[in-house]
Amino acid sequence: MRASILLPYRAPENVAKLATERFDAFIADRELTIDEIITLAHERKARGIVVVPKQRMSNEALAQLPDSVKIIATSSVGFDHLDIEAAKARGIFLTNTPDVLTECTADLAMLLLINACRRGREYLQIMESGWRRTFSQSEMLGIKVSGKTLGIYGMGRIGQAVADRARGFGMKIVYCNRKRLPPELEKGATYFSDLNAMLPHCQILSLNAPGTAATKHIMHDGAFALLPDNAVFINVARGSLVDEEALIRALQSKKLFAAGLDVFENEPDYNLRLKEFHNVFLTPHMGSATQETRDAMGYRALENIEQALKGQRPQDSLW
Ligand code: DGY
Repeated sequence: MRASILLPYRAPENVAKLATERFDAFIADRELTIDEIITLAHERKARGIVVVPKQRMSNEALAQLPDSVKIIATSSVGFDHLDIEAAKARGIFLTNTPDVLTECTADLAMLLLINACRRGREYLQIMESGWRRTFSQSEMLGIKVSGKTLGIYGMGRIGQAVADRARGFGMKIVYCNRKRLPPELEKGATYFSDLNAMLPHCQILSLNAPGTAATKHIMHDGAFALLPDNAVFINVARGSLVDEEALIRALQSKKLFAAGLDVFENEPDYNLRLKEFHNVFLTPHMGSATQETRDAMGYRALENIEQALKGQRPQDSLW
């Protein structure tokens, strides 16, 4: 008998197809609430559940799931929406989808970086309103990307992939990470164990660390003040790393030349004051949003479920 699993969100077609081939899968046509997921899990005696980041599996939610549930697999690399200790206490595996979204998330960081430096949003607005007037040699100037020093906070897989791309643009890499990387991964980048010590070197700063209690509001007024004047700030990690009021102050004071943001403290209801700054290039948390990567994330979540239901420790177990 095929195991009952839930995909309580609108899964990509290929993922839905694989899920129905391998499991007795319930696939929703919209993102279900936690209460709906709990009800369905009881009704269908679900053994595995794939979730997406908006579906927060808190201690309270986990406590209400039936004993049939053996694994919750988030289709994301981030797992700040999952209570690992509570799941462990109930013996429910939690897994994420590392690796498969590294490249696309790093690509999006570069998209934001280049658009922020080169005034992509303003150029687009000019073209959309018809252009019709040439610019002098001193108007609408961005800042040069090549040769700049890029600081990367969080040098895990995604941070390293951003560094690899930035090297292709002739950028110098400095990074801050809990641990120094071995030389073959560091590839000549300069290590800082302390963010505050690194910030004055970052003409461009990219956040690539997970959203945890330790990284909450790591970018506050004092941290923005340590950046060089005219710095560019990029975030594809989590909105929780940034005190957005401090970011707004850094934009207002023109301490920052520009910013590129894919993630926000409140999603999807992001702080609309950010869009008033035309030098802020904004995307709606789309780092992994390519057909290939969303399929790969779904497949990886299903692999984890398959492994857990065979009695194995899933490859991406978070505990
Ligand atoms: C991730 O996978 O964590 C992405 O940020 C999507 O939430």
